[in-house]
Amino acid sequence: MINNGNTYNLQLTRSRLKEKVALITGGGSGIGEATAKLFTSEGASVMITGTREEKLKKVTKDIQSNGGNTLYAIQDVSKEADWEKTIQALINRFGKIDILVNNAGITGDLLASLPDRTAEEFMQVLSTNLLGPFLGIKTAVPFMQKGASIVNVSSIAGITGNAGGNAYTASKGGSRMLSKGAAIELAKQGIRVNSIHPGYVETPMVQDMRDANAFREMAVGSTPLGRGASPDEMAMGILFLASEESSFMTGAELIIDGGFTAF
Ligand SMILES: NC(=O)c1ccc[n+]([C@@H]2O[C@H](COP(=O)([O-])OP(=O)(O)OC[C@H]3O[C@@H](n4cnc5c(N)ncnc54)[C@H](O)[C@@H]3O)[C@@H](O)[C@H]2O)c1
Repeated sequence: MINNGNTYNLQLTRSRLKEKVALITGGGSGIGEATAKLFTSEGASVMITGTREEKLKKVTKDIQSNGGNTLYAIQDVSKEADWEKTIQALINRFGKIDILVNNAGITGDLLASLPDRTAEEFMQVLSTNLLGPFLGIKTAVPFMQKGASIVNVSSIAGITGNAGGNAYTASKGGSRMLSKGAAIELAKQGIRVNSIHPGYVETPMVQDMRDANAFREMAVGSTPLGRGASPDEMAMGILFLASEESSFMTGAELIIDGGFTAF
């Protein structure tokens, strides 16, 4: 038991999110899928969203067949109207929102030099990775109560620069600072906002990219632990930030990168 004014009982049981309602964007694959599965196994009711219905349907079915409470909605996170529809659907179904995980993201071409990057692609990456989380916070906060938690999935690319990742790095640095600004503003309402910074994680995002093998070799080679992470290892960090176990953390960065940024 810790004394944080609320005297929570921190139980290491499978019910760390009991009675909580969460929205996870990009829940049809990778880190979002792992997080949805972990959250529901910890007692949360979860809405997953994304643009690919087949993927969302499959994750929803998997979770429901394990007794989890979940539903999906089609949503493009870069569209304000989609956010309004999604949050309304979540409130209609569950009556509240306790946790928002802004996870959906795209890399753009991670190997494009600055002169070769088009302005359109740059803006597309920013629209998904930075405007998306902003719209999510803006739309969800009016429905949130004291004790709510927002987790923005940034990246080590939001901490360190790299050649070729100019659009992605700009978006993830933006998401890191969006989290801090929101954390300060929302603290008086008792809403916490933190960011998580994954290193190289074995998901479709990096497995399906151009020159995936060379990129993997480079990323794993620069990771002191000498391997890529599983999506579950990110989900554990997101669970910590979403739950009351991190009740005195806000505006913080949780780096889970196998030591990549330790140099
Ligand atoms: N895999 C890694 O190595 C790594 C490293 C650091 C950070 N991240 C971040 O983790 C998050 C999850 O990525 P992942 O690795 O699980 O990859 P992923 O490709 O499996 O997941 C991303 C999800 O976002 C969805 N998505 C993309 N654009 C969207 C949009 N406009 N609206 C709604 N959904 C959209 C995709 O359909 C997909 O399901 C991303 O924000 C990514 O930047 C990943």
